[in-house]
Amino acid sequence: MTENPSDSHGPTAGDRRATRGERPPAGLENRIETDAGSGSADDLEYEVVTTPVLVIGAGAAGARVAIELAESGVEPLVIGKREHGDAHTTWAAGGVNAALGSLDPEDDWPVHAADTLTEGHHLNDPEAVELTTQEMPDRIRELADWGMPFDRTDDGAINQRYFGAQSYRRTCFVGDRTGEAMLETLVDRARDLGIPHRENVMITRLLSDGERVDGAVGFDMETGEELLFRTNHVVLAAGGFSALYHRHSSRDDENNGDGQALALEAGARLLDLEFVQFHPTGMVGERYGEEWDGRLVTEAVRGEGGRLYNADGERFMERYSPDQMELDARDVVARAIAQEVREGRGTDEGGVFLDISHRDPEYVRERLPSMVERFDSLGVDITEEPMTVAPTAHYTMGGVDIDFRTGETGVEGLYAVGETVAGVHGANRLGGNSLAETVAIGKLVGDHVAGAVTRADEDPDVTDGQRALAEREFRAHRALAASDGTVTPTELLADLGDLFWDHAGILRTEAGLREGLAKLEDLRTRTTDLRVDGDLTSKSFEYAVDLSASLTVAEATLRAALERTESRGAHHRTDYPETNPDWRVNLVVSADTGELSIARRGVTEPSEPVGEALAEGYELDYHHLE
Ligand code: FUM
Repeated sequence: MTENPSDSHGPTAGDRRATRGERPPAGLENRIETDAGSGSADDLEYEVVTTPVLVIGAGAAGARVAIELAESGVEPLVIGKREHGDAHTTWAAGGVNAALGSLDPEDDWPVHAADTLTEGHHLNDPEAVELTTQEMPDRIRELADWGMPFDRTDDGAINQRYFGAQSYRRTCFVGDRTGEAMLETLVDRARDLGIPHRENVMITRLLSDGERVDGAVGFDMETGEELLFRTNHVVLAAGGFSALYHRHSSRDDENNGDGQALALEAGARLLDLEFVQFHPTGMVGERYGEEWDGRLVTEAVRGEGGRLYNADGERFMERYSPDQMELDARDVVARAIAQEVREGRGTDEGGVFLDISHRDPEYVRERLPSMVERFDSLGVDITEEPMTVAPTAHYTMGGVDIDFRTGETGVEGLYAVGETVAGVHGANRLGGNSLAETVAIGKLVGDHVAGAVTRADEDPDVTDGQRALAEREFRAHRALAASDGTVTPTELLADLGDLFWDHAGILRTEAGLREGLAKLEDLRTRTTDLRVDGDLTSKSFEYAVDLSASLTVAEATLRAALERTESRGAHHRTDYPETNPDWRVNLVVSADTGELSIARRGVTEPSEPVGEALAEGYELDYHHLE
């Protein structure tokens, strides 16, 4: 529901928290400084929107939460930064995991869970893993019922392919455009259910006193109109932060840590930030052009038999992982490629070759249509010649600390889901498990939030305190848009991308991380001379807002990586190259005192069936593929 703010400016009867707006919100105040001034409310016009549940993020996780809410009789509002149906999920390529056993009947959810824990180097939340792996077979069948056009076997079962470090063929797929097909299916379902959505909306702050969230503040990126969302239930489904790296597989203007920063600022905790996944095969090389640098060459290429060669023609994975070869865990393959390049066996363009030309061209066209098409458009026929690839930042295992049965963050009224959160993947993620998490946990969170919504939440009052907080934020928007210094957000984000790549990349050291933190401090200083070119509808303003979130998440990540003095999964410290059993703890970042602080927390043990599957020690034997 929307209203005109001038209709109801006086204090309302139920204004329990009217004084809240007078004090700054709890949590982190770590933003780019602006002089917002004070001014009267009369100079501000904004739209007030009330909803029982606000879902921030319109990718697969947000969509699945919203569907569950709607099916339970609660009408949420879904908002996204881009056009409806256009979210980062569309770039997820190779598949989604579920222990269906279509081709390998021995597969079952405890084996899927055991593989996930092994790949996560036992830092995962076992409950999160078990919920995901148990849910998935039903979630896949549900997606198929809703029309997702999964590839099928000759006898009509949902087909499954090999993906890295998985004991069985478990990855269900739609060619190599699985994420796009999944989001289309979810969006169609949401349309059938009549779920309201609003596109081109960016949230800049959650209304919070550190203990409770009761709304969000943002703006319409097309019209510049400012927006106060009043709700008692906010679900953050806003993605990860891999785009902080200058070379990444994500969409450029997304995955910049805004979900994590909003949550931290509202009083929630972040977990496992030091674990960033580098996908082994991102496009690299001049012949593909700058715009393709770092873009994903799906793991499905290796899952369908693709081989890696160095510039000397050696199939080098034989040296690093003779059993699992190209389908070993992503961290292992990414480090192997980086080592080949570092030791001078890479291509001139700083990568290695990925070749699938030994397979029947018809098979390659059928299984990898998007890859064939993309490389064709660049003048490369992958059925005949190799691609040039190198590691690229792909996924962030870290994020908001939640209870996976409910999505609760510990801040009343605030929930989170999808890549925004941490826990399922531990120190490294299995390919195909991110899409799985979105729908498995999305359903559970939607179900829980639906049960938490009361009649009073349907059209909540807007208090003076909430208005005051929102208006403070609107003034901050204007002050930010009016920044007239000399350095643009684009320049600072580019420098942050280089800094992150150089100092928080595949290989880390204490000296490098400290240098990264010092450079970050310098970047923060430069934000005092910011120049924003345009109003709230400009890209420059969007990037200035991104910058604030990205700096916060970058600092927390560098500090967590410095703290963890061991190597585990995707976090590799060359000064501490071994995994240390004493470090089987999660690092929890909070901003309770207004400053970032880091604490250690022990990890729980899996259930008996998963413990047994772990003891069996299932493992993919790559040579099945040959
Ligand atoms: O390579 C890929 O298709 C990526 C899949 C994933 O990260 O889950």
